[in-house]
Amino acid sequence: MTVWYNEDLAYIHDVGFRDYALKSAPGIVEILKQHQIRAGLIVDLGCGSGLSAAILHQAGYQVLGIDISEAMIAIAQTRVPTVEFRVASLFTAEIPPCAAIISIGECLSYAFDTNSDAALDSLFQRIYHALSPGGVFIFDVVVPGHTAPGEIVRNFTEGQDWIVLVEKQEDSTQQMLTRRIITLRQFEDLYRRTEEVHCLRLFNRSTLADALRQKGFQVNISDCYGEFSLPPARIAAIAYKPI
Ligand SMILES: C[S@@+](CC[C@H](N)C(=O)[O-])C[C@H]1O[C@@H](n2cnc3c(N)ncnc32)[C@H](O)[C@@H]1O
Repeated sequence: MTVWYNEDLAYIHDVGFRDYALKSAPGIVEILKQHQIRAGLIVDLGCGSGLSAAILHQAGYQVLGIDISEAMIAIAQTRVPTVEFRVASLFTAEIPPCAAIISIGECLSYAFDTNSDAALDSLFQRIYHALSPGGVFIFDVVVPGHTAPGEIVRNFTEGQDWIVLVEKQEDSTQQMLTRRIITLRQFEDLYRRTEEVHCLRLFNRSTLADALRQKGFQVNISDCYGEFSLPPARIAAIAYKPI
């Protein structure tokens, strides 16, 4: 069975790549308040290691976190023991009635178990159905622009006891971004090596907005969450279910 965000990659994401969630969450709380959502259940799809769940919980919301990675959920459950977390695919998990649904960090782009047009269409339908009238669905995805056509980009990032090497390439025909990720994590004098290949769907701004509007949402596509500007080649969607 394929493991997504294995133990070492989950650890490295949590300690080395937490800024995206930590900087997005305050803007998301602001958007919730602008929509008069000051309490109630927030479902966090692709909750990762629970960084956004912790901030939402602290802000007074009830949170349900869902992620396909067992290792991510283990970290999340330790971080916020009072929040409910489930290991499941966001494409098939049951989504309970709720005030808002969020998905931070391009989770809806990942094509781990699936990311077909039909799976996405069904997800948007289930989300619309689960949200209370006046509820919002806030998420971000990747769009083209991570590499030039035909280019392969390699880079690395290191922390105190880890190194991560990433090789990425866009396929404009398939509208996919592929990231090959090698991790090296130090245990005393030895380094453990793991490798995963992540394929991500590249969205088109207007097609995404149309797909959400077709379900009944009022849609705002943005490049930021409040004061946090998303990194290049990402967009955020704020989809509002009218009362
Ligand atoms: C870049 S991480 C972001 C995690 C977290 N939201 C954050 O901002 O720190 C993407 C997350 O999406 C999760 N993910 C990807 N595809 C998924 C799916 N089909 N169902 C549930 N989780 C998924 C991954 O396991 C990973 O935790």
